[in-house]
Amino acid sequence: MGPDQRPEPIELARAHRVGHLVYRQPLMAFGSPDSRSHSRKSPQARGDIRRRRWCAYLRGGRSMTTPIVIIGAGGFGRHAHDVVDAMNASSPTYEMLGFLDDGRPDERLLHERNADLIGSVSLLEELPVDVNYVIAIGSGDVRRRIDRWATSLGRKAATLRHPSSTLGRHVALGEGSVICSHVSIGTNVKIGRHAHINFNCTVGHDAILSDYVTAYPGANIAGNVFLGESTTVGSGAVIIQGLSVGADSTIGASACVVRDLPSRVTAVGVPAKAETGRTDSHGWGAT
Ligand SMILES: CC(C)(COP(=O)(O)OP(=O)(O)OC[C@H]1O[C@@H](n2cnc3c(N)ncnc32)[C@H](O)[C@@H]1OP(=O)(O)O)[C@@H](O)C(=O)NCCC(=O)NCCS
Repeated sequence: MGPDQRPEPIELARAHRVGHLVYRQPLMAFGSPDSRSHSRKSPQARGDIRRRRWCAYLRGGRSMTTPIVIIGAGGFGRHAHDVVDAMNASSPTYEMLGFLDDGRPDERLLHERNADLIGSVSLLEELPVDVNYVIAIGSGDVRRRIDRWATSLGRKAATLRHPSSTLGRHVALGEGSVICSHVSIGTNVKIGRHAHINFNCTVGHDAILSDYVTAYPGANIAGNVFLGESTTVGSGAVIIQGLSVGADSTIGASACVVRDLPSRVTAVGVPAKAETGRTDSHGWGAT
């Protein structure tokens, strides 16, 4: 394949299904970022550069960094890209290949950051096996489904940790977790697979955050707290020490949780009161 040619389109004849996600044909806007040339070159020239780098990658001209794709090209996807950039600025770690998304993200915002929508989520299956992935989708339930599918394919998730975050001793970060800027995590904390800990969150000593937990910006999770799988903690919410929150529950923004909470409830207010019977446990979309 010549350096200026587009790669052959990858045929995705089968329609893959993961839970309710139906994957469509990839858009094939291949590319990878080139931050040095971004400001001076035309969009066409930048596209050519990204295409050449992508072709070089497919030909096997690999660097010492790990190639990565971000699944989900919405706001948190771009946020995860910022974490990748910050990690690379600290020590070259990842080669960002682009985003995978089944929806219609704002590609202008992606191009402005010199990144591209490569195709739909199912394209992960077709990428070289050394390409890592991270799931930047707000719904823990959707992350769980994609994780199970990707794991069944033998794909490896990258764990992203912003360099400004601080971790105590004996902190275990599950594969695929995203730890954003200015997060503080105490000692002896376990964080499960594909957990999202958004900026300015605190997690106290001896806490256990199960797989697919989402902590939105500024959430404060005190010591010895247990959060069940796929639980969401809203912005600025507080969970006081030693409490348990069951799986698939949602703590509203600014709530203060002072009692244990069961699974599948939404709790709001100060002190937080659980409400059952909500059909949407998260209150927002998938990305
Ligand atoms: C709790 C939450 C999940 C509820 O979502 P929802 O089911 O769509 O709720 P609605 O917007 O329909 O509101 C239902 C009721 O709950 C109240 N309510 C909603 N969120 C609340 C909150 N955080 N605290 C107190 N009351 C809240 C509403 O005022 C409304 O009350 P009413 O029936 O008396 O009018 C959501 O409001 C929330 O707080 N999400 C967290 C968002 C967040 O942190 N985002 C960060 C993104 S980075």
